[in-house]
Amino acid sequence: MKMLVSPVANRDSHSPLSTPKADDLSMPTSAHAPATSPVDRLAAIANGDHVPSEVHPQMHLEPPVLEIKNFNLWYGSKQAIHGITMNIPNNKVTALVGPSGCGKSTLLRSVNRLNDLLNNVRIDGDMRLNGDSIYNSRMDVIDLRKRMGMVFQKPNPFPMSIYENVVYSLRIDGERNRGVLDQICEKSLRGAALWDEVKDRLTETALGLSGGQQQRLCIARAIAAEPEVLLLDEPCSALDPIATGKVEDLIQELRGTYSVLIVTHNMQQASRTSDFTAFMYLGRLIEYGPTTEIFTKPILKETEAYVTGRFG
Ligand SMILES: Nc1ncnc2c1ncn2[C@@H]1O[C@H](COP(=O)(O)OP(=O)(O)OP(=O)(O)O)[C@@H](O)[C@H]1O
Ligand SMILES: [Mg+2]
Repeated sequence: MKMLVSPVANRDSHSPLSTPKADDLSMPTSAHAPATSPVDRLAAIANGDHVPSEVHPQMHLEPPVLEIKNFNLWYGSKQAIHGITMNIPNNKVTALVGPSGCGKSTLLRSVNRLNDLLNNVRIDGDMRLNGDSIYNSRMDVIDLRKRMGMVFQKPNPFPMSIYENVVYSLRIDGERNRGVLDQICEKSLRGAALWDEVKDRLTETALGLSGGQQQRLCIARAIAAEPEVLLLDEPCSALDPIATGKVEDLIQELRGTYSVLIVTHNMQQASRTSDFTAFMYLGRLIEYGPTTEIFTKPILKETEAYVTGRFG
């Protein structure tokens, strides 16, 4: 993709980018820190200074499935997430990118409260899933995790048949009607672009599938539960290029139907598969906008340097 000249040098400080929204869950803009500022933001952040996120105006127009509001997280005394405010658009694919250790997995795990399983974690701020406060004491965590599908770096099929993997969440919910299970199994495997490869071996163990097939099976298992959001943490990092291509095709097919939040280290993958891209650094949201803008005309020179592979 051709990198255009960064608009950093000539951005009008009265542009819509600088217009804060009034409502409580609006995202921060750069009203107090024009992008023409000579400050090297990443150095300033490393220095411990507060630097606001650059959020492109379109992000304010997208209806959100997830709202993250001034979210902070500490592992013991070490702060890993610093005041992140961002909305994840409904039925779109959003990529989280940034150097290793910048907090991408931590943010993803915070969304479905997987970090609750660690006893040294402390958080503050708020997250909402379709308006429901994720960290509210009345939130049922089991129910919350059912509302989100999570797929990890390494495929983790259960040691059971392909069929039983896919219908696992329905079994847990007590669904016994074979017709219903069959229908959802086929629909989910088709949705995960795996049906044609496995339709004649549904009763065979899932552990006999290739890595790429296992990862698509995990996505099928997640889809079968009809989650409100699909969380993917580097889903292709253990896959070869062909399997990666199939999973990327699948993510593209999910666009418009599912809300997907995907962590990736692969800039081509982010640019190919996502509608929106968020660039994180040292636990902060640096820049967030439509993927085409982040990759072709980012507001910040730091974002441009990262997405073009000049650091990180
Ligand atoms: N369980 C934990 N206990 C203590 N610190 C942790 C824990 N998990 C992550 N961290 C720290 O939090 C920071 C963010 O880690 P995280 O795994 O979220 O980064 P990441 O962006 O996903 O990195 P990568 O791209 O390498 O997967 C890092 O400094 C990491 O060392
Ligand atoms: Mg990670």
